[in-house]
Amino acid sequence: MAIGSHHSARAGTETWLTPPHVLDALGGADSFDLDPCAALNQPWPTARQHYTVEENGLIRPWRGRVWMNPPYSNSVIGRWMGRMAEHGQGIALIFARTETQVFHETVWRGADALLFLEGRLHFHDAAGVRANANAGAPSVFCAYGAADADVLASCDLPGAFVPLRLRSLIFGFASVGSWVDEVAKVIEKAGEAVHLDTLYRALADSPKAQRNRHWREKVRQSLQRGPFEPLGDGVWQMAQGRLL
Ligand SMILES: C[S@@+](CC[C@H](N)C(=O)[O-])C[C@H]1O[C@@H](n2cnc3c(N)ncnc32)[C@H](O)[C@@H]1O
Repeated sequence: MAIGSHHSARAGTETWLTPPHVLDALGGADSFDLDPCAALNQPWPTARQHYTVEENGLIRPWRGRVWMNPPYSNSVIGRWMGRMAEHGQGIALIFARTETQVFHETVWRGADALLFLEGRLHFHDAAGVRANANAGAPSVFCAYGAADADVLASCDLPGAFVPLRLRSLIFGFASVGSWVDEVAKVIEKAGEAVHLDTLYRALADSPKAQRNRHWREKVRQSLQRGPFEPLGDGVWQMAQGRLL
């Protein structure tokens, strides 16, 4: 059977492992606190803690930054993705079935940003052997939380980054507050795209940063929510045709 249906029940197994280079590009397995649906005898870790089918990750408490490449069968994917959206911190890797009800409920309406992968992944079988055939469908990484949106925006995986919180730019710009303005001022003054580190340096002494010990988070959040676009490797510019 072509691996094209490898995540379906028809494929005979639901264990198709995340390639190690994918985890490395997202910060490494150690940077994830939990994989709630790890394979039995994973040949490599996907997070610091694993729940397997024996513990049943669906009914356990989830904590911290979650890595989730779930069983994809239609009968359960909604439960996994619903749990992920509710948890709100981490990254899920699923097929880009963008029209489905599950995708609408838990990704379009639940995630903070997406990275649509260019090309197709080759997953690994339960023994860790890379499949000859590709996944047979497009994959998408779904970020929950601003920090993981930032990870997708700046990681080296090839693809198209799509921030979803631009909706707040249109409907709730005021709620983002003037952090967006502060970030925009720095980029506009530079007159070119700037690296995140440049933004940190420029804003470190600002009164707003002095008042908020989570100010770096605010800067990243503003980049996600405001009229900015990522160029990769942590470099950002003002969005073309921006509303400001
Ligand atoms: C697509 S594989 C991904 C494995 C691993 N998460 C990774 O990224 O490499 C999905 C895995 O979920 C496991 N699984 C299925 N139901 C589960 C459950 N209720 N609790 C925990 N794991 C489960 C399956 O055994 C399978 O190995």
